Amino acid sequence: MEIDEAIKNRRSIRKYKDKPLSKEQIMQILDAGNRAPSAKSRVQWRFHIFQDKAKDRLVQACRDTIDKLPKIPLMASTHNSYNIMDNAPVVILVTQTCEWGGIAPEIQSVSAAIQNMLLKAHSMGLGTVWINDVLFVEPAILQILDIKSEESELKDALIEFGSQAGIDIGYSGPLIAAIALGYPDEQPEREPRFTVEEVTKWYE
Ligand SMILES: Cc1cc2nc3c(=O)[nH]c(=O)nc-3n(C[C@H](O)[C@H](O)[C@H](O)COP(=O)(O)O)c2cc1C
Repeated sequence: MEIDEAIKNRRSIRKYKDKPLSKEQIMQILDAGNRAPSAKSRVQWRFHIFQDKAKDRLVQACRDTIDKLPKIPLMASTHNSYNIMDNAPVVILVTQTCEWGGIAPEIQSVSAAIQNMLLKAHSMGLGTVWINDVLFVEPAILQILDIKSEESELKDALIEFGSQAGIDIGYSGPLIAAIALGYPDEQPEREPRFTVEEVTKWYE
């Protein structure tokens, strides 16, 4: 598939056929992610593949954890997202190494890897949706992944620098997103977008 066609026709898919994927298919998608550019070429992404009973346990942990939390408006769609993960044959959790404390360059590397995977999956006739609603239950997920959210000295130093400079150095924990993956069972319309002119300013 041509790159333009993949970029133009990819859609978030939230309904999947009850049809398994082969390990070879999943590996092709991970390989596309692993070819993304990365800050200082440090390859900050890590992929965790959930299928079958492991996926059931993951989704259950998300549901149980979110139900115990106070509700805020941003969390309105969480159960929908967990239902999508339940319905998809594969869920890829994407984490970052947090070598530098989970700061913007690392998050950007991992996001590039995610987009590569979404486009590759689409080019293979597969559907995906990028899911951030897992972030609300990050501690429960890190327990499943056996990853510790360690505080790094660099992160502390950057926050200190930021407060002195009057800027907020954004940082994130190890969990970046989930990707639901499977054969599409819907053909969503393109969502309304701003035009390029609306999001662009030219400088001369
Ligand atoms: C960072 C990010 C987080 C997202 N989180 C969710 C989510 O938690 N649940 C969901 O159903 N869709 C999620 N999406 C998908 C967006 O809703 C979707 O990309 C957007 O509506 C545009 O539609 P399209 O992907 O079909 O072009 C997310 C997308 C991005 C880029």
